[in-house]
Amino acid sequence: MQVAIDGPASAGKSTVAKIVAKKLSFIYIDTGAMYRACTLIAKNHGLDYGDEAGILAAITPGSIRFEAGQDEQRVIVEGEDASLAIRTPEITANVSQVSALPGVRAKMVSLQREMAGTTNVIMDGRDIGTTVLPHADVKIFLIASIAARAKRRELDYAEKGIHEDYDKIYQDIKLRDYKDSHREVSPLRKADDAVEIDTSNLNIEQVVAAILDVIAKKQKISPK
Ligand code: DC
Repeated sequence: MQVAIDGPASAGKSTVAKIVAKKLSFIYIDTGAMYRACTLIAKNHGLDYGDEAGILAAITPGSIRFEAGQDEQRVIVEGEDASLAIRTPEITANVSQVSALPGVRAKMVSLQREMAGTTNVIMDGRDIGTTVLPHADVKIFLIASIAARAKRRELDYAEKGIHEDYDKIYQDIKLRDYKDSHREVSPLRKADDAVEIDTSNLNIEQVVAAILDVIAKKQKISPK
């Protein structure tokens, strides 16, 4: 079974996708982490974030990998654990530019399809239901108000020891929403057959329960 979870930045996709994947013993693939890894590779190589050819040349087979950690999946970039390095404000501020590069997207989409293979998978991102896995069995589109998302990101940063001003986070999310949904290649868009869930006033358990419910209903009506 393939489950696609899409939605704007900080709508809670990865948090709930991880929990759902664990409950169902599915493989979890965080595609946002892959675009963040590409952005970190650009930074490590001193490349301009718009230098498509340079970035593509720097991404070699195996330069972006996921590894099972103690309780969390680790993101390995060029052989180093970059799980924290891909979530700094600098990477967050520049990932929209890197992820809008058509060549980078093509490379990541093909890697994502390869990773999904034929196993039970939950993949989260922006274009999973529309482009990466258009035949996914279940498609969820998570949304939340900008204020709710900014608050979550502020807490997220605080947990990582990063202080970032709330108003700045709010503006960053607004700008990223705009860039993610207005880029030419695979913009953020709800697939026609996706189930939309507004998480603004829901806690994590409630969102997980809502997604499990959609999956259970789908399993019941799917011919075995
Ligand atoms: O979910 P996130 O914030 O970690 O994603 C980081 C960026 O990557 C986001 O600004 C948009 C981009 N992205 C994308 O273009 N397509 C995806 N499938 C996943 C993320």
